[in-house]
Amino acid sequence: MIAFDEQTAQRVIADFPILARPTSRGKRLVYLDSAATSQKPNAVIDALDTYYREYNANIHRGVYEIAARATDEFEAARAKVARFINAQPQEIIWTRNATEAINLVAYSWGAHNLHAGDVILTTEIEHHSNLVPWQVLAERTGATLRFIPVDGRGELILDDIDRLLEGVKLLAITHVSNTLGTITPLERILPKARAAGATILVDGAQGAPHLPVDVRALDVDFYAFSGHKMLAPTGIGVLYGKRALLEAMPPFLAGGDMIRKVGYERTSFNDLPWKFEAGTSNIADAIGFGVAVEYLEALGMDWVRAHERDLLSYAFERLAPLEARGLAIYGPKDPARSSGVISFNFADIHAHDMASILDTEGICIRAGHHCTMPLMDKMGWSATARASFYVYNTAADVDALVEGLEKAARVFKL
Ligand code: ALA
Repeated sequence: MIAFDEQTAQRVIADFPILARPTSRGKRLVYLDSAATSQKPNAVIDALDTYYREYNANIHRGVYEIAARATDEFEAARAKVARFINAQPQEIIWTRNATEAINLVAYSWGAHNLHAGDVILTTEIEHHSNLVPWQVLAERTGATLRFIPVDGRGELILDDIDRLLEGVKLLAITHVSNTLGTITPLERILPKARAAGATILVDGAQGAPHLPVDVRALDVDFYAFSGHKMLAPTGIGVLYGKRALLEAMPPFLAGGDMIRKVGYERTSFNDLPWKFEAGTSNIADAIGFGVAVEYLEALGMDWVRAHERDLLSYAFERLAPLEARGLAIYGPKDPARSSGVISFNFADIHAHDMASILDTEGICIRAGHHCTMPLMDKMGWSATARASFYVYNTAADVDALVEGLEKAARVFKL
């Protein structure tokens, strides 16, 4: 029997107004698509409202009171996000999302450090966002891509890791697979990558929301993540970079705010982190991101992780009887090796049909290729259904999912 912390979970649910709204069919909203985007607590929604109602002004420019407050709150949010991952504020670059953060590295660091014949090592389980930028960069520079393979359970195969790392200039690896939930064994790979002289980028889009992250302990050069998957608004993300690397990198985008002195012919650039933040920033959403990480810190990332492990354990237990009736669960079926995601197909019910049937019960899941087409091709899946969990999910949501699958089995006469 799983010992859920039901009391904290109910308090969390009460903080998310969307979860109190029934669907148009009058069903309770069972939100199981947090790997796509998370819901937002009142504290974050209120922070946006307060910014626009009370101190909406541009930052780093105005001397008047509300502009100074906007600047202070914006920079305070950066400091909160820095603390959340054990970084310095100067090492936190605001971007639109993890994708833009990875592209920043590809264009700024990559274009100046990678040359013909250099090797980029990545894995077979990457989201397109941590694959396509490197393909584009390889095309431009003449570098080549190499892949750490995945096995049938969704685990990386590390037997050949020493050979794979030979001569690697950049390792670009996800922290958690958005399709399979696999937590990549960074503790086994990164020290070897470091010893091999590789620069290391971790795609933390599914890592930072779910696992305690300490970029210094991990000793990564870059860590990219998005606000919207961790209770913050959409349109705001972060690139963490080691200070010395960021100092040495040229700007990514050029324009206002990233300059120190501009002449008609030449320009000198601003200090970190503003050197990488051209144009008016996403002020309100950055402030919202700061509030979101405070919310997660108040819960405690250890609680977040423990809660998800409980949910996964309970879900695997409840789903087990359906496996005899054709339910295929992909990815590691071990809560210690997986984070918040269960990908599945049920007999020959198409994943999109499954998502539509569950929708009639108020249950939101994602179906499709999950932005990991090469992985889907390799595994031989045209699509999977994916249920993903976060802080506001409880055993009742797992029960609803199981009932939804039972209903699908009845509809399709399984
Ligand atoms: N990357 C997001 C997902 O996995 C959108 O659903």
